[in-house]
Amino acid sequence: MSSKLIIALDFSTKQQALDFVKQLSPANCKLKVGFELYVAAGPDLVRQLVDLGYDVFLDLKFHDIPNTVASACRSAASLGVWMMNVHASGGDIMMQAAKQALVDAASSSKLIAVTVLTSMDAQQLKRINVSSSPQEQVKQLAQLTQKSGLDGVVCSAREAQYLREQLGEDFLMVTPGIRPEGADAGDQKRLMTPAEACRAGVSYIVVGRPITQAKNPLAVIEQINKDMTPNPNP
Ligand code: C5P
Repeated sequence: MSSKLIIALDFSTKQQALDFVKQLSPANCKLKVGFELYVAAGPDLVRQLVDLGYDVFLDLKFHDIPNTVASACRSAASLGVWMMNVHASGGDIMMQAAKQALVDAASSSKLIAVTVLTSMDAQQLKRINVSSSPQEQVKQLAQLTQKSGLDGVVCSAREAQYLREQLGEDFLMVTPGIRPEGADAGDQKRLMTPAEACRAGVSYIVVGRPITQAKNPLAVIEQINKDMTPNPNP
């Protein structure tokens, strides 16, 4: 069974990222390339990871006019990435254009959307003239994402159970803010363990520092995958 674990490769150079990846296997994890690494290492690194057999989530959160986002998604698909994302607040026309670009390119890349950044609380939303609560806004944007034909959303594990009920079994939920039992929280706040996130119905979890900064990353990966494997005799 393919792993539900996506490792956030938050490194500042290509070499650091490749040195870390050397010890992994595509059978045990997927990989996420975000802004820091992409800006430093570019599309060549993404192609390299794809060529090594990894499912790569290109986490560049596109947000622009529909035509520009569609073109960016087409370029990302040509790298062979497994998943990419846009901001749902770019609107349904933008999301539909992004999805159409992937359909037209006959790409099987999954397209998901960020609803509300977890760094945005009610006060921050108010300052950009959004009067709904963060929860309301997440729900509204997740529904818009689904109506626009996308495959899923990035969401917090706290929202997962509710969104799963609202949006059905097939909608993907990709969830950061995960810490294995006993791991350092770092700057993450509302945390869940991998097992809790699975019980809440998430499709994939994103874990960075608890793995990338571990003395023995493979042991942490193995434990997380074990924690997410359903118990055959519950
Ligand atoms: O190291 P850590 O496990 O906290 O890394 C989480 C990853 O998920 C980082 O790449 C971070 O940018 C990303 N992320 C997040 N919270 C969000 C969206 C993305 O932590 N709401």
